[in-house]
Amino acid sequence: MTNAPTPQHVAIIMDGNGRWAKQRGRPRTFGHAEGVEALRRTVEAAGELGVCYLTVFGFSTENWRRPAEEVTALFDLLRLYVAHDLDKLVAEGVRVRIIGSRAGLQPDIAEIIDHAESRSKHNDKLNLTIAFNYGGQDEIARAARRIAEDAVAGKIAPSEINPAHFAAYLDTCELPAPDLVIRTSGEARLSNFLLWQAAYAELVFDDVLWPDFGKASLERAFAEFRHRERRYGGHGSEQA
Ligand code: FPP
Repeated sequence: MTNAPTPQHVAIIMDGNGRWAKQRGRPRTFGHAEGVEALRRTVEAAGELGVCYLTVFGFSTENWRRPAEEVTALFDLLRLYVAHDLDKLVAEGVRVRIIGSRAGLQPDIAEIIDHAESRSKHNDKLNLTIAFNYGGQDEIARAARRIAEDAVAGKIAPSEINPAHFAAYLDTCELPAPDLVIRTSGEARLSNFLLWQAAYAELVFDDVLWPDFGKASLERAFAEFRHRERRYGGHGSEQA
């Protein structure tokens, strides 16, 4: 199997905001604010490069361990991003989804999420998914809980459960699996991001810190993606 010229679904772990800010003697929250600028550039670039699905990791279920001030700043950035950018995103044909647990979110955040999703639901040029209060293990556990509830209610027989069926219970049930997962800042880990979905994704690790990411970085990652041979557990195309 050969690669399509451009990955259809690109997922990004936006890492390095804190180090970027530290290098400039500024607070970590300054790095996160600059991270939003990088996100804006990346959404624009993804559309220009023909990406259909872009999924970004905005706040993990583990990020609650950070100081309260930083957690508040990250929530405020989500509020500001939607308030400032939703009109433009909708006008440009972007469909916005937010995946992750709604448990423990302030009511206004839940409303912002519902509003962004419903206002953009007829769009399909680019599907932007923000993982917020998201953890792959948490997502899988929530899906398992719902399947168990359906089994107890007699809606599904345990023998019917297979990977395709299970995937329909995940937050990402409307999205294809990512073709490419990019992580910035030189760290080479998935950190609980899209654990189920990334089973056959190509992983690209870039040393650039997230606030410096942009179209050139995305193109570099795509060039690396094109050199990879995806086998999905089978043989390479030359042996097929
Ligand atoms: C990791 O950098 C980044 C995050 C924990 C948050 C990512 C968030 C943004 C890019 C902005 C938020 C945007 C929206 C719309 C939600 P880090 O703080 O772990 O950096 P470090 O590893 O250098 O300390």
